[in-house]
Order: sequence, then structure tokens, then C-alpha cells
Amino acid sequence: MKVAVMGYGTIGSGVVEVLDINRDSIARRAGMPLEVKYVLDLRDFPGDPIENKVVHDYKTIVKDPEVGIVVETMGGVDPAYTFVKEMLCAGKHVTTSNKALVAEKGAELIALAKEKQVNFMFEASVGGGIPIIRPLNSCLTADEIEEITGIVNGTTNYMLTKMTEEGLEFDDVLKDAQARGYAEKDPTADIEGYDACRKIAILTSLVCGQQVDFEDIYTEGITKITAADIRYADALGRRIKLLAQSRKVKDGYVAMVAPFLLPENHPLYSVNDVFNAIFVHGNVLGDAMFYGSGAGKLPTASAVVADIVEIAKHMDTNIAVEWSSQKLQLVDSAGMEHRFFVRAHANRDEIAQIFSAVTYTAEAEPGEIGFVTERMSEADYAAKAAELGTVVGMIRMAD
Ligand code: HSE
Repeated sequence: MKVAVMGYGTIGSGVVEVLDINRDSIARRAGMPLEVKYVLDLRDFPGDPIENKVVHDYKTIVKDPEVGIVVETMGGVDPAYTFVKEMLCAGKHVTTSNKALVAEKGAELIALAKEKQVNFMFEASVGGGIPIIRPLNSCLTADEIEEITGIVNGTTNYMLTKMTEEGLEFDDVLKDAQARGYAEKDPTADIEGYDACRKIAILTSLVCGQQVDFEDIYTEGITKITAADIRYADALGRRIKLLAQSRKVKDGYVAMVAPFLLPENHPLYSVNDVFNAIFVHGNVLGDAMFYGSGAGKLPTASAVVADIVEIAKHMDTNIAVEWSSQKLQLVDSAGMEHRFFVRAHANRDEIAQIFSAVTYTAEAEPGEIGFVTERMSEADYAAKAAELGTVVGMIRMAD
């Protein structure tokens, strides 16, 4: 089977490497040898083993009947969307690591793949090398999935771990993450939570079988987290983690991405550094956890190549994926209930008058006071915080 790789960046070159490192076992599992015939990229790669396979026009791949499987590791929605669509229309199977593409165009590309009796797979788009898409699609099908809560962004998890362990400020840790190649030069997508938001949109779409638009998900990144917040977290015996969460509620599904304060007994408390973990609760299964390398070249390539093997085993079959383009209107996250940890320039009388019963933290930064509210809705909290008027920071408590 001939394979084409579109995009020879970190993940694309990792895919070529994995196909080479594990050539024999992959061929055995796929039931056929897999050979990279083309690498599509704007650049040339003189001296690289694939230098003679580089093409600059994606139509070369579209027109070659020998290519049955196409890997998309370009990133971004355009032109990846155009290229993938044409590959599917030409009867080629596609696997992608591109969460932006999957979150926005997943339903359409799944429908197109079904129409053309090929497969569109995207295991690597969430959780890097951790299996989560296939488990949701194939293994947990007996369940109503009632909750998915994940640490699905390695960069921010590394940064929060470093802030926790070394007491550093956000900007210093960001520079360190960039120097290590975890955070990109423009780190916005990671630190503002946009990457995690797309990933939870994909997982929620798979769970409910409908299109969940990432724009509808309330998203807060980690840019406001400071070394002082970490000191408060320590005093509370908790750790701050960026969680991407969706829950089945009475009237549908509710989703959110935000930093949370996790207690020591929370299943995601010990997920550190660039690791990812996804906690799933099913109504008959109970709890399950998927943990591992959630980002990086070879872990992500491992998931892409696993898709290639799965495709090779199903060359004549479209594996059904339940994700229709019918939009699911999420329930307003203003109704989500938590306890809230709050930092404010206020005195206890003012706080008690507005928030009633609160628990004060042992830690207090100069000139401010820290407290944890009772359980209340996002909307109630917002109204009370506005009334108090002197809130300098808030982080949600994960139970
Ligand atoms: N920027 C992403 C992360 C890469 O840090 O998790 C994997 O999707």
C-alpha cells in the first residue's frame, strides 16, 4: 500500500520515522507493507531520506491511483480542508492529526468518507498518542457517556507543573516552555485554551453524535494564573490544572475549558508535565482513565500510524463514526455549579454580606483576602463578584 504524507513538519516527519522504525511489525499488523510514496510540502528537504519523494502540488497525490492512504499533518483548516476533501473524493482514505480541521469540518468529512466508502480517521487529534477517539467510537459504545474531563494540552500542563514545583511566574515559565519547544513562538492557542477547546468539542461531538461548535464552549486559558495563585493552591492542598470538561445534564450537554483547583484525591491531580489524561464516566462502565504522552513528535505519530494500520485492515469498509452535522446547542454554562476560590480586596463583613458562608484561606497575599464560596452557579457567582467589585482573581474548585 502506498501512503502519502501531507506536511513534513514535526508530526509528518514523525509518521515517516515510525513507519520506518517499526516497518515489519506494522506490515504484519496491517496485513501488507506500507510505503511512503509522496511527501507534500512547500519546502524541499535535501539530504533527507524522503528528498526524492517530495512533491509541491497535492494534485500529484490526488491523481495517483497507487496511493490509497493519505496522512494530513499540515495543521490549520485551510488548505488542509480542500486537500483532504479532494483526497476523499478521489477514493483515498485519510488520517489526520489536525484538531482545528476535525473540530470545524469533522462531521462533513466523516459524511463524505461514508459516501465514498473510505475512512476519515483522527485518533491523533486529541490526546496525542493516547487512544481516546477509537475507545469512544468502538469500545465504550454500551454506555451513555455522562462526563469527560481531560487535561488535553501538554504545553499548559507543563507550565502549570513548573509554576507549582518552582514557584515561578507565568512569563518565565512560558519562556522556558518555548525554549524547550513545547510552546510555539505564538503560544496563544495553547495558553488561551483554544487548543483544549477544540479537543473537548471533538470529544463531545463523538459522545453526543452531533456537531458541537467549539465557539459555543466557554473557554478560559491560564494567562491569568500567577505565582500567588499557586501559593493559595498550596495552602488549600490543591493543584491548578487546565481542565476541558463536558457533562451530560438534564437538558443536554454542557462544556467548559478553564483552570480548576484539584484536590489530592482527584483522578487528574497527579498528571504532570507534558502528559495528558482523559477521565471518562459512563453510566454502566463507571470510571475510566486514559493517560499518557499527549503531545510530541513520536507519540502523535504513533496514533497517526495506528490509524493507517486500521485503515489498511478496512480498505473496503467504511467504519461508521456517529457524528452528524446537525448542530447540538450546548446548555448554557452559566448554570454550571462549583465552589469558587476568590481573591479580593475586601473585608470579611463585605464578603459575608454578599457571599454568606465562605471559608477563608490560610494564605493571604498583602492587601487581599482569599476565600472559597459555597457551591453556586456560574451566573450567581458572576452577580455576587460584580456586587463585591474588588475581585482580583477567581479559580473554580473541582469538587
Ligand atoms: N500544542 C498541543 C499541546 C499539541 O501542547 O498539547 C498537541 O495537540
